[in-house]
Amino acid sequence: MPRVLVTGANRGLGLEFVRQFTRDRWEVVATARTAAPEVLELGANLLQLDLSDLAGVASFELEGPLDLLIANAGTYGPRDATTADEAHEWLDTFAVNTVAPYLLAQRLLPNLRHARGKAIAVSTRMGSIEDNKGGGYLAYRSSKTALNMAWRTLALANRDLTCAVLHPGWVQTRMGGPNAPVQPEESIAGLRRVIDSLTPADSGEFLDFQGNRVPW
Ligand SMILES: NC(=O)c1ccc[n+]([C@@H]2O[C@H](COP(=O)([O-])OP(=O)(O)OC[C@H]3O[C@@H](n4cnc5c(N)ncnc54)[C@H](OP(=O)(O)O)[C@@H]3O)[C@@H](O)[C@H]2O)c1
Repeated sequence: MPRVLVTGANRGLGLEFVRQFTRDRWEVVATARTAAPEVLELGANLLQLDLSDLAGVASFELEGPLDLLIANAGTYGPRDATTADEAHEWLDTFAVNTVAPYLLAQRLLPNLRHARGKAIAVSTRMGSIEDNKGGGYLAYRSSKTALNMAWRTLALANRDLTCAVLHPGWVQTRMGGPNAPVQPEESIAGLRRVIDSLTPADSGEFLDFQGNRVPW
């Protein structure tokens, strides 16, 4: 039975990942910072993990091989930073969106290596510098751009694994809002097809849920 770990599994895209993987008989290790009854009802193992707690992430341990890491959890953060408080919130966004996923991947490298596994970060087109025509969302955009760079660096340092950053589309979740054109089922089905198709030769790529390359 293949094994996947999904962060931010209590709602949105994370919960849909858990739904689809448990349905397809994967062993699912789900992490969330709060109680997540839906996750338990789906038959996944649930571990408490707050990604803003970097000491907690740096000491995270998992026994046994891992076929797939999905660093999914993410947060918007402040839209701009003009005060010290907003600047601190911007740094907090970096902790959750950039530093914690990278640290977690580092912690899980031995598990992934054991299974010749894949490390996926759920990023966003909004982290693309070339694609940024609208501006705004300072903390979110910049932390995801940094995530993309961190993941590319992870890929280059671990050439026996497959590491990629993926854009899920604009999806109807709490983050995506009610006007988003893509439903979570479609997004996650697409992301899973893309993940399945990835080989070590694709490591370091930035792709969307339909398999198209996203500009950096
Ligand atoms: N929806 C979209 O249109 C869209 C588009 C592009 C990229 N994405 C990316 O997709 C991923 C999932 O987003 P979503 O749409 O599912 O958003 P969502 O519904 O807002 O869910 C975000 C998830 O991240 C978790 N999270 C936030 N801060 C956390 C922390 N400090 N520690 C642990 N977990 C934390 C949340 O947990 P709590 O419930 O505890 O807050 C929740 O499970 C994110 O990385 C997002 O950037 C989404």
